[in-house]
Amino acid sequence: MIIEPVIKGSVARNCHPDGIRASVKQQIDYVKSVPSVKGPKKVLVIGASSGYGLASRIALAFGCGADTIGVAFEKGPNEKGLGTAGWYNMIAFRENAEKAGLTARNFIGDAFSDEMRRQVTDCILNEFGGEIDLVVYSLASGIRTAPDGVTYRSTLGVRDVPFSGEAFDLEHQTLTCQTLEPVSDQQLQDTIKVMGGEDWKLWIDWLNRAGVLAKNFRTVAYSYIGPESTWPLYKEGALGAAKMHLHSTADVMNEQLQATGGQAHVAVCKAVVTKASAFIPVFPLYIALLYRVMKEKHLHETCIEQMYRLIADCLYTVDGKIPVDNQRFIRLDDRELRPDVQAEVNVLREQVTAENFRTVSDFAGYLREFHALNGFGLPGVDYRADVDPKILAALKP
Ligand code: NAI
Repeated sequence: MIIEPVIKGSVARNCHPDGIRASVKQQIDYVKSVPSVKGPKKVLVIGASSGYGLASRIALAFGCGADTIGVAFEKGPNEKGLGTAGWYNMIAFRENAEKAGLTARNFIGDAFSDEMRRQVTDCILNEFGGEIDLVVYSLASGIRTAPDGVTYRSTLGVRDVPFSGEAFDLEHQTLTCQTLEPVSDQQLQDTIKVMGGEDWKLWIDWLNRAGVLAKNFRTVAYSYIGPESTWPLYKEGALGAAKMHLHSTADVMNEQLQATGGQAHVAVCKAVVTKASAFIPVFPLYIALLYRVMKEKHLHETCIEQMYRLIADCLYTVDGKIPVDNQRFIRLDDRELRPDVQAEVNVLREQVTAENFRTVSDFAGYLREFHALNGFGLPGVDYRADVDPKILAALKP
């Protein structure tokens, strides 16, 4: 079969497994082209199949020589479709890691469940040398069933008054208007349950009780703050409230871990094109304006460049010190938030219309990265070649 990209709304409905291989390889090649880092050797990445989590795993494996365990929620091929991009990312990562002589164990299932914590702990104890040096927590989800069986859904809403803004319709490649409605108190609390720090802490407490955290253990989760122009829709909205919970959880865990030399951090990352960020209303236009400005200023970074910088310049520095701001955040959004960058983004935002968005913003670059997430548009891939579903069905993560 020949696979062509299908997009519905802001969601990709299919992926190209050969293209995904090429995209994972591209990220690995980037990490191999930059200096290696003396870092952790045993790593668990929760949310390892795409975006920042996948890039973290690649940077740690190929930059530090780390053995990794990856957890993700993805679907393999079945009678309804070829499966998700993340499924093939997990396979491509494992194949490349094993070829490089590294251990890579993949767990596909619900990271919010105690059952997954149990399986991963067993793996650490029985197949992974008994200890881990680093846990990367990189989940982005709209739904969480907590260990008590209650299911919570997150809402991408604002706090007090509705917020309207221009937004991409990727399916039709147009600019439309989207409105985010205020969330109720219940929706706010539920969003905090899904995207806040509770589950991260459950993981670390669980692993600590199991005695598998190495001396000088570290854990990091990812957050976003963004420029003031995006605050109504992100920082001051429901997602921002969840992130504030994540931030305070890092401080609580950091205190607890100090007795054994452990540390818990939040890395504030830059806005990039991922499956999760494409889903946030209005946000993608900001990303495309930002991309244009940052590319023009030669400041542009994708997930892999950000994650390499996190590891080389922040988490595993030569002197062992982790650079943080006055709120103890690791700041990878420094280039995004530069006043000159934001001033230019604001000028472009004033100019953008439904007629000119392709030239005023880096819409083409946005779309290219969106397609690449799903394995389309990668150089060197023959998209006219027949893909055999039977071969795909035999691949296991
Ligand atoms: P993504 O959608 O690319 O990746 C999310 C990961 O979570 C995937 O590996 C997915 O399989 C996994 N996942 C979701 N639900 C799961 C479940 N129940 N069990 C197991 N795995 C599950 O998202 P992205 O953008 O890489 O986000 C990761 C983190 O980075 C999030 O905390 C996000 O807020 C943060 N971040 C993202 C930014 C962006 O611009 N994309 C900017 C700054 C922070």
